[in-house]
Formats: sequence, C-alpha cells, structure tokens
Amino acid sequence: MRIAVIGGTGLVGRAVVEALARDGHEGVAVSRSAGVDVVSGDGLEAALAGCDAVIDVLNSTDDEGDGPRRFFTAATQNLLEAGQAAGVGHHVVLSIVGVDRMRGNPHYIGKQHQERLARSGPVPATIVRATQFHDFASMMVSWTRDGDSAFVPPLLVQPVDVGDVAAALVDVASGPRDDGLIEVAGPDRQDLVDMARRTLAARGESLRLTTGWGEPFGVEMAGEALLPGPGARIAPTTFDDWLARQ
Ligand SMILES: NC(=O)c1ccc[n+]([C@@H]2O[C@H](COP(=O)([O-])OP(=O)(O)OC[C@H]3O[C@@H](n4cnc5c(N)ncnc54)[C@H](OP(=O)(O)O)[C@@H]3O)[C@@H](O)[C@H]2O)c1
Repeated sequence: MRIAVIGGTGLVGRAVVEALARDGHEGVAVSRSAGVDVVSGDGLEAALAGCDAVIDVLNSTDDEGDGPRRFFTAATQNLLEAGQAAGVGHHVVLSIVGVDRMRGNPHYIGKQHQERLARSGPVPATIVRATQFHDFASMMVSWTRDGDSAFVPPLLVQPVDVGDVAAALVDVASGPRDDGLIEVAGPDRQDLVDMARRTLAARGESLRLTTGWGEPFGVEMAGEALLPGPGARIAPTTFDDWLARQ
C-alpha cells in the first residue's frame, strides 16, 4: 500500500515510515521540511495523490492557549478534504489515552478537536490512542528545567515504546478497517517522577526534581486518568528495555 505519513519526519513519523518499509509498504513522509504545509494546505493535494491511507502523527508547533486547537482543526480539515479528493480509504489518527477526560491542557484540547473532526469527516477514520512514550519524563524535564532543578508532576502512566506505537499504526492502516477507537499501552505502570529520576541517572545527569500539580498538568490527570482501559493493545517493550538503550 502507499500510505502518507503526516508528520513523517517527527519522532513517531520516522518510526512509522521505517515500519511501513519493513512491512513492504510505501510510506510518503509529509511535513514542512518535505515541502508540504498541512495547516495552509500548500503541497497537500500532490502529496496525497495515489495514497490508499493516511497516518496522521502531526504535532502542533504552538502549545500555548488556543494554539493547538487552531493548529489541529486547520490541519485535520485540510487533510480530510484533500484525502477525500484523492480517494484515500482510511484516515488513521494518533491520539492520547485519556484525552477525552482532560479540560485544562491546551494540547489535549487540540487533540480532542482533531479526533472529533476525523470521526465525523468524509474519510472513514480510526483513532489510535497511545499512552505516554518512554521519553515523556525526559521531555517534561526539558520543558520545565530551571537551572539545576526541574518540575515533574506525579503522573501515573503506562508508558509505551515509540516503535511499538508505529507498528500498531501500520497494522491499523494496512489491515481491515473497523472505523473505531483503539488504545495502545506499554506493559507496566510507572510513576513519572521515578521515570525522570531513572532517565537522568541512566544519562549521567544530576538535577533536583520537584513535584506537584500545576497547569497544564493539573490534578485532573491524577490517579488512573491516563491509564488505558481493559481492551487496550499491550505492547511488549518495557521502560527498563528502553532505559537500557539510553
Ligand atoms: N509524547 C507522547 O508521550 C505522546 C503520547 C501519545 C500521543 N502523542 C502524539 O504523538 C504525535 C506526534 O508526536 P511527535 O513527538 O512525533 O511529534 P514531533 O516529533 O514534534 O513531530 C511533528 C511532525 O509534524 C510535522 N509538522 C508540524 N507542523 C507541520 C505543518 N504545518 N505541516 C506539515 N507538517 C508539520 C513536523 O515536521 P516539520 O517541522 O518539518 O513540518 C514533524 O514531522 C502528537 O500529536 C502527540 O499528541 C504523543
């Protein structure tokens, strides 16, 4: 199959393009660095020509305030319109487990709009919700670092490997379509503060970690809010496997 990977040069996108090639499909990486802007729509029609399916692993370039909602709305509307015109048969969106339960995080609100548009759009769609990736704790540290300390909220997560998420997206996009909602998670639960501490140690870095709740990671994310439901697809790679590669 010929499958367009929207955001194909990003963290997940690169893994999806690799997984498609491994399975004998043709992946078309779509991003601004590949000459296509999905927010303005420039170059999109040509990029989707002849594609059987789309895998959307875009990320917003503006995570403040209303930015993510505007980004994901414009991008998804353009993708669905261009996909319909090109005869795309399946639109697969990567989203986040628990996204529908969040009210205070702009990125999650943007993803809610992305999901809603895809589900009600003209191209049959499947939403693949993944849990946090194994490097989420280190991403959090990079966002909140202030001198020799960083803030990490005490989230309970069931982190998943990016390669496993990519494999799930390729299975969904290239397999029989069920137009539904799928959850993908890693095999075990972790505390995000502990993940940060262990990631820093594995990389030989020393930082003072502080914790607590504060927007955009408010108390609505406490407890089991970010954990998958009983029907989730459980991927094999553990946090320890990932840590050993750092
Ligand atoms: N991190 C997690 O724990 C986690 C968990 C579950 C789900 N997710 C979801 O995973 C998705 C992908 O995340 P990621 O970390 O792979 O993102 P990323 O590394 O930041 O990649 C984003 C991609 O989007 C492209 N892009 C951005 N603006 C664009 C535009 N206007 N037109 C075309 N392409 C554009 C970028 O390429 P250019 O800059 O070249 O345009 C890049 O290829 C996100 O939607 C996120 O919600 C993440």
